[in-house]
Amino acid sequence: MTSFSSLAAISRPPPSSVARASFPARSVSVPRTRFRVNCSYAEAGVSDDSKSATIDVVADVKTERVVVLGGSGFVGSAICKAAVSKGIEVVSLSRSGRPTYPGSWVDQVTWASGDVFYANWDEVLVGATAVVSTLGGFGSEEQMQRINGEANVVAVNAAKDFGVPKYVLISVHDYNLPPFLLSSGYFTGKRKAESEVLSKYPNAGVVLRPGFIYGKRRIDGIEIPLDFIGEPLERILQAVENFTKPLSSLPASDIFLAPPVSVDDVALAVINAVSDDDVFGIFTIEQIKEAAAKVKV
Ligand SMILES: NC(=O)c1ccc[n+]([C@@H]2O[C@H](COP(=O)([O-])OP(=O)(O)OC[C@H]3O[C@@H](n4cnc5c(N)ncnc54)[C@H](OP(=O)(O)O)[C@@H]3O)[C@@H](O)[C@H]2O)c1
Repeated sequence: MTSFSSLAAISRPPPSSVARASFPARSVSVPRTRFRVNCSYAEAGVSDDSKSATIDVVADVKTERVVVLGGSGFVGSAICKAAVSKGIEVVSLSRSGRPTYPGSWVDQVTWASGDVFYANWDEVLVGATAVVSTLGGFGSEEQMQRINGEANVVAVNAAKDFGVPKYVLISVHDYNLPPFLLSSGYFTGKRKAESEVLSKYPNAGVVLRPGFIYGKRRIDGIEIPLDFIGEPLERILQAVENFTKPLSSLPASDIFLAPPVSVDDVALAVINAVSDDDVFGIFTIEQIKEAAAKVKV
């Protein structure tokens, strides 16, 4: 599979028009908006309005509208919050809809309630410049196949059919696990989703593969500070990286050695992906952190 490091060198000309498919008998508005700004000014010392010259300035202003599937979840809410802080318009789709906790960023997100398998995509995807999927989770084999795999396949195809130019998937690191352990519904579902993204979006699909993600996770209204464990662990593993690298070829070694990543870094890597047309491909844990650093202020 293509890695980000090799892809980073590829530079594509800025798309003058974005190729898009659409639902039958339905046209989709082009998400890149052009604003025409007309400025009138009077030359120095000339106050007569009739002599003032008019300059037409046409500026390309990129307006982003990102649809976050699962924006109410742990990772999804960090993505929504980061996107709002960057002035990006955000729509979230999840079964529970708007979260119950307060927050100024919460008020700036459009919260749609619905199941991805029965979504009214015409409403959800209108004007979208990118879809970000955080759909995934654990459960029975069947449930894991469904939410990690099939749900994402449905969403990728809906976005592609609708002509959304970019798709970002939150997948998972493989922890260097032996093949028999990667055969669980969680990992097979994730890989199925990844191939759908990369085949339908060969030049604009982004797959982030984080390991353990830390931050403040809300469960039933209670905040669980996973950063108490995640942050120091990330620092320790980074500090001893040179010593532990030789062990990385051992099967399953990454269960202990893969550095955790903060939920804010995952969110910023998503922002980097949705705001740069030239970003596509698979991102490892390290590359997620590098991408996040690019948009960190
Ligand atoms: N957390 C980690 O440490 C970690 C590490 C590596 C990878 N990941 C991946 O990152 C992604 C996000 O993880 P997370 O921890 O943020 O999970 P999460 O908190 O459970 O969030 C999942 C989101 O998906 C929504 N959702 C689930 N089923 C849905 C459906 N049928 N239709 C619409 N929305 C649905 C959920 O909302 P509703 O239930 O209200 O619908 C929720 O908003 C997952 O794909 C996970 O595999 C997580």
